[in-house]
Amino acid sequence: MSLIDDARAVRENAHAPYSKFKVGAAIRTTDGQVFVGCNVENVAYPEGTCAEAGAIAAMVAAGGARTLAEVAVIADSPTPIPPCGGCRQKLKEFGAADVPVTLATMAGGSETTTIGALLPGAFDASHMES
Ligand code: THU
Repeated sequence: MSLIDDARAVRENAHAPYSKFKVGAAIRTTDGQVFVGCNVENVAYPEGTCAEAGAIAAMVAAGGARTLAEVAVIADSPTPIPPCGGCRQKLKEFGAADVPVTLATMAGGSETTTIGALLPGAFDASHMES
């Protein structure tokens, strides 16, 4: 099963009654573990969370390796969906610039980019050095 298959499966569990837009995400860590997440919306709209954020939270909570090796995101969209700005920063926190990110549609479209390409000029810890 590919990482996109994992993302497609968890997408079904999304709680998206407001946008009706279900998203699934799956991440593989450098020690081979896979974690999944889906978007979880809330009637107080800003409290909703993205699929990528859910997968990252599951990885961190599991307590093992927290270095990303691969990321996959899927939605039922005309073209592969780009992760939102906040999720790009969240992915960057745990993955190197060259980590592949596959973005897919339910219709079979897909494209692969990288964490670095998604967030050029990223803010990181070096910016806090005095
Ligand atoms: N969404 C994600 O879960 N991931 C993305 O990369 C883009 C957007 C969700 C948030 C919200 O529940 C719905 O898609 C519509 O914006």
